Amino acid sequence: NNSFNSVMTLTEEGLTSVPKRYVLPPSLRPDGTLSNTCLPIVDLTLLRHPLLRPQIIQQVRLACKELGFFQVVNHGIPESVMKDALDVATEFFALTNEEKMHLMSPNVHDPVRYNTSLNDVKDKLSFWRDFLKHYANPISNWIDLWPSNPTCYKEKMGNYTKAVQKLQEELMEVIFESLELNPTYLHEDIAEGSQVMAVNFYPVCPEPDLALGLPPHTDYSLLSIILQNHQGLQIMDRDEKWHSVPLIEGALIVQMGDHMEVLSNGRYKGVVHRATLNSEKKRLSITSLHSLALGKKVRPAPELVDEQHILSYKEGGISDFLDFISGENIVEAKYIDILK
Ligand code: SIN
Ligand code: FE2
Repeated sequence: NNSFNSVMTLTEEGLTSVPKRYVLPPSLRPDGTLSNTCLPIVDLTLLRHPLLRPQIIQQVRLACKELGFFQVVNHGIPESVMKDALDVATEFFALTNEEKMHLMSPNVHDPVRYNTSLNDVKDKLSFWRDFLKHYANPISNWIDLWPSNPTCYKEKMGNYTKAVQKLQEELMEVIFESLELNPTYLHEDIAEGSQVMAVNFYPVCPEPDLALGLPPHTDYSLLSIILQNHQGLQIMDRDEKWHSVPLIEGALIVQMGDHMEVLSNGRYKGVVHRATLNSEKKRLSITSLHSLALGKKVRPAPELVDEQHILSYKEGGISDFLDFISGENIVEAKYIDILK
């Protein structure tokens, strides 16, 4: 594929401006003022404290309702496991394009794929991101397909992937409790659910106010858990104001996705977010997207449908979503027009 042009190879040419296809129309540029209110941080150890638990559940409820977002600390995943995952991801992207090309795929149904922008083949506008996506749960089904170069990729990314899958099961119970559902609601479906790892690489950008790593979108997941090595993620609040997500050492970012909006019958909305760039440091993030298994549908919990909360969503699953957009599996329908 001669037309494939990763952002990494582009930046190796020593650019002082961004090529035209990355320059966004003014309405999409990330150059507006940011809101600077504090974003919620949830300490998971406090949940084990019987007297504090109700307060923490309430904190989660507010965070999910107001923003669809919080960061978690003391979540139990060792910092070494997170660091190893970021390090091996960095090593992967540092390989030459030739070494990565066999994983390149524009097909959103492929279980492992390396690509750039949102979808290199279809985009009219380009985004300043190279990425590797792979399925992950149950890990034994997929790990053989993951990159074998760097040689420790499977081990290091695997350790993080397994830990984050366990964490999301715990978080899902907390979130269900905050919705006044049984914490073990859909327990097995959640444990056997899909997990897609999106490993995102945003090279240094010479004109970070003109371009984006990812446009505003919501995730197609129930929950997404994000690990980042530098600041760059921004979330939108209900007044359509943007907030920068601070880098907190050791913390993980938790976001509600479209499927949580469906499951909660609209009580918790998927958070709109975007990835901004900077001119000094290359940034990496690892997003773990969790939902029910590929063939299953998410539907509003019957307990959350009543006279005050009429049924507001149709059921849907990941495969519907992939078929619907059939281009890139993270862009929400309402933003697709912008990208055509
Ligand atoms: C995303 O998964 O939408 C991007 C996360 C990030 O780069 O912070
Ligand atoms: Fe996302």
